[in-house]
Amino acid sequence: MKITVVGAGAVGATCADNIARRQLAEELVILDIKPGFAEGKALDITQTASLCGFDTRVTGVTNDYAATAGSDVVVITSGIPRKPGMTREELIGTNAKIVEGVCKSTLEYSPNAIIVVISNPMDTMTYLALKSTGLPKNRIIGMGGILDSARFKCYLQKELNCSQNDLQATVVGGHGDTTMIPLTRLASLNGTPVHNLLSEETLKKVAADTMVGGATLTGLLGTSAWYAPGAAGAELVESIVRNQKKVFPCCVSLEGEYGQNDICLGVPVVIGSNGWESIIDFKLNEEEMAAFNKSADAVRNMNAVLSTIVA
Ligand code: LAC
Repeated sequence: MKITVVGAGAVGATCADNIARRQLAEELVILDIKPGFAEGKALDITQTASLCGFDTRVTGVTNDYAATAGSDVVVITSGIPRKPGMTREELIGTNAKIVEGVCKSTLEYSPNAIIVVISNPMDTMTYLALKSTGLPKNRIIGMGGILDSARFKCYLQKELNCSQNDLQATVVGGHGDTTMIPLTRLASLNGTPVHNLLSEETLKKVAADTMVGGATLTGLLGTSAWYAPGAAGAELVESIVRNQKKVFPCCVSLEGEYGQNDICLGVPVVIGSNGWESIIDFKLNEEEMAAFNKSADAVRNMNAVLSTIVA
């Protein structure tokens, strides 16, 4: 198994670190455009091998796509992160060209790779990856919902004083402050609906905090977060390389599912060695469906901007 992470910034490097620690591949390549940067991150991670107990060979390269040849999974984190006060959507002008170029270069050397998109605005970057590469839809997966669901669990845990690992909680829709939909109705503590345990008011606050989870961190850190985004990326990669068939909310191409077409949006999918393998119908109620449609409209508007940026 060979995995490439493109972009050695905070999210890319943390994702690579998690991939190495979980020993998801024999070979892990980190690629960046900044000279020496990926090499440095790779060497630093490599020096944790005896401390963390992994044998994955980690190498870093400067824009040398030949070194990524034959990758089974390519994780794209390239692009600029957001600054405090910025939305993910404001990054589109810079990041669209970068992501399109990265897709083209990686596929030249790894034509069979499954592509995981983390770059923002993630839903639109996933759509761009799908359209610009023409790959089968199951091989293009946007990672946002796993991260947003982890944040949902974090805020639920604060209220319930429970283990986050006992929580089932899913965020669907777009990976934007106003487009994501924490599915409070379906959230449970080991099967007990959280509605039985927390007030409506508390649940509304949990959902609101979840939606601005990334922005809260950007405000605190001065740039976007990396520990949870990187770990969420590795969680997705693990289900692919170990063929775990885990159900995660991921941004995938919809062809009629959830009432949508010609869009990539977050829905629960089964993740295995073929990429995303099927979509699970959560049977959203009327209110949730209305929120999903609104989210789709916002993402579709953002996708329309692509034609003014890339060919
Ligand atoms: C976040 C970025 C990575 O939500 O989208 O932190």
